[in-house]
Amino acid sequence: MGRKKIVAGNWKMNTNLNEALALINDIQKGSKQFSQVEKIIFPPFPFLKNSVDSLTNETTFYVGAQNCSEHIKGAFTGEVSAEMLKSVGCIYVLVGHSERRTFFKESDEQLILKIQNALKNDLQVIFCFGEKLEERKAGRHFETVKKQIENVLKNFSETELNKFYLAYEPVWAIGTGETATPQQAQEMHAYIRKIMSELFSNTLSQNMPILYGGSCNAQNAKELFSCADVDGGLIGGASLKAADFCKIIASF
Ligand code: PGA
Repeated sequence: MGRKKIVAGNWKMNTNLNEALALINDIQKGSKQFSQVEKIIFPPFPFLKNSVDSLTNETTFYVGAQNCSEHIKGAFTGEVSAEMLKSVGCIYVLVGHSERRTFFKESDEQLILKIQNALKNDLQVIFCFGEKLEERKAGRHFETVKKQIENVLKNFSETELNKFYLAYEPVWAIGTGETATPQQAQEMHAYIRKIMSELFSNTLSQNMPILYGGSCNAQNAKELFSCADVDGGLIGGASLKAADFCKIIASF
């Protein structure tokens, strides 16, 4: 059996409640016929429960959170724990998104704790990483990605990693309109599989879904998704328009 096909929408800090529910409704209508594709949305925290509730009849459409705390519970004003996310019906959580690494200075140590908490609460982790423009320009993109993966994932067992998805998101492509070419994406995804196979096993590496993220849109998704090692996309901007998101879902 081939790997899953996945299209995930990271809404970031966008929408209000009404807009979020309308967007979900429109995506549901427009993606009904694509039951072979797993759909995941990552709405902002306040809309997670409503989002889960509006998808109760769906079997291939899930809700995830954009982040979770590295702390378990207690006096951490403003934080949201993995247990809270699980209790409102989240299935997935993003860990390591470049905006969290850059703006909120999240370290590998924090990412490890977040993943530990997510796993304790049976959340499935989508682990994100990718090189910055200067790292690519200096030819250090493979080395950077290898470190990002090794530093965090070596702390987990193959059994734990069985439920992970990976998301390669070159920072220079996120929100910039400058997408990686299919060749660049394929080359890196194949490299990521090689690293995973060296760190763990060939079976894990071959079964692990790896998403591409960074200015993936309705125009370029088809070409990106046709790459052998690209199993779908983590979509930012284009996930906020139902028509575009559905077109991306239809791109396999
Ligand atoms: P983008 O964002 O599609 O707007 O580039 C992708 C992401 O940050 O996950």
